[in-house]
Amino acid sequence: MGSISLCSKSLLHISILFLPCFIGVTYCQKFQGLSPLISPPLIPEILNFLDQRLALVFPIIQVFKDTITSDPFNITQTWVGPDICNYKGFYCTSPPDNNSAVALASIDFNGFQLSAPTLDGFIDQLPDLALFHANSNKFSGTISPKISKLPFLYELDISNNNFHGNFPMEILGIPGLSFLDIRFNFFTGTVPPEIFTQGLDVLFLNNNNFIQKLPENLGSTTVLYLTLANNKFIGPIPRSISKASATLKEVLFLNNLLTGCLPYELGFLSELVLFDAGNNLLTGPLPCSLGCLAKLEQFNLTGNLLYGQVPEVVCALGKLVNLSLSSNYFTELGPTCRKLVNSGVLDIKKNCIHDLPDQRSVLECDAFSLHRRYCPNPASFNLIPCKVPSSPSHPSIGPKRNLVSYSALLRHAVDFQE
Ligand SMILES: *[C@@H]1O[C@H](CO)[C@@H](O)[C@H](O)[C@H]1NC(C)=O
Ligand SMILES: *[C@@H]1O[C@H](CO)[C@@H](O)[C@H](O)[C@H]1NC(C)=O
Ligand SMILES: *[C@@H]1O[C@H](CO)[C@@H](O)[C@H](O)[C@H]1NC(C)=O
Ligand SMILES: *[C@@H]1O[C@H](CO)[C@@H](O)[C@H](O)[C@H]1NC(C)=O
Repeated sequence: MGSISLCSKSLLHISILFLPCFIGVTYCQKFQGLSPLISPPLIPEILNFLDQRLALVFPIIQVFKDTITSDPFNITQTWVGPDICNYKGFYCTSPPDNNSAVALASIDFNGFQLSAPTLDGFIDQLPDLALFHANSNKFSGTISPKISKLPFLYELDISNNNFHGNFPMEILGIPGLSFLDIRFNFFTGTVPPEIFTQGLDVLFLNNNNFIQKLPENLGSTTVLYLTLANNKFIGPIPRSISKASATLKEVLFLNNLLTGCLPYELGFLSELVLFDAGNNLLTGPLPCSLGCLAKLEQFNLTGNLLYGQVPEVVCALGKLVNLSLSSNYFTELGPTCRKLVNSGVLDIKKNCIHDLPDQRSVLECDAFSLHRRYCPNPASFNLIPCKVPSSPSHPSIGPKRNLVSYSALLRHAVDFQE
């Protein structure tokens, strides 16, 4: 798999199927040359490189190789000689700025379990790099600010490594970045709001230790897939989320500390297929606007403090496969919803619907209702900002789809193939 064909950026799915491809970047930034640490004699004159661009990155790779402290699969044994395009984990193609050149375009270290104290001085010194995938290694340290000088970089995956400290701010400056996966590290502190205005398609931040109120500008995001699960995000889901209505398909907020009521504006996310905010501290009723989410397949709000009636318009959504509302404090369920309980789509266990099995005790439910909870703008909960079918239909459940974001909750690299 030494050479790779060229394709265009608009093909998000192709690109993350890991057929590495270049963005059609029209500009070409002048790159900074070699790091001062690298002296030219490291390039042996006798080596015959396919292209001058490969000769330039050869010493960078060799210096990085020397910093690797653990290599259980002997990957780096293949990193010798001038044939960089056949090193394990390295892929070449012609760069966007010169059709007749051959450049190091992509690195895939997924699962190699390499240890190195830093990637600084490595990826930031590879001027033609478009993809860097390093899921399940033991890399740590900081990300170099020079990474924002890489003109073609658009996929960065450092998931399941040993990165610590604050969000790597350097990432914000990468001009063409569209895929960012830093899940399963030890990042802490806050996520800069700017990440939601960077033109990303995919943002996976789950399984870190981010502690903050969800930024107000969350809805400015252009991502299709957003996972913030398994952190310590607090505060309400911002009403601005409706701004992402043209793009947002999958949202994972589960296992955080979110509070407040669900915003009516959720009902505008017309592309939404998956929404999971289970195991938070969300309260209030379900907004009837959710009945407008015509593409919704999976909706999980298990383990919150929700109450009231489950709106019939939600249960009437034609594409629903799983509606998990268990471990809340709902008190009423209409006939459409009851049908979903019987067909196994709706899980309403451990609520306060006393004519159904597996409910909370009356005592527990009374104690909850004594603590009155208020939502801002209560009238909005009854609004339905769309036309819903007058007679609820629930067509047969289609083939089970592989939802991308749920696989981001596992440590291995996310496979975008359907
Ligand atoms: C890696 O190389 C060492 C020494 O050459 C050898 O003992 C070991 O079995 C190799 N490991 C793998 C996974 O190939
Ligand atoms: C394009 O790349 C080829 C091969 O490396 C090189 O000979 C040629 O000078 C380059 N063209 C430009 C315009 O840089
Ligand atoms: C809903 O979320 C809970 C907690 O994360 C999980 O155990 C359950 O399997 C989920 N339900 C569905 C249908 O995905
Ligand atoms: C959804 O529900 C079906 C049964 O209705 C179940 O088999 C499946 O595991 C559930 N969870 C997910 C995540 O699809």
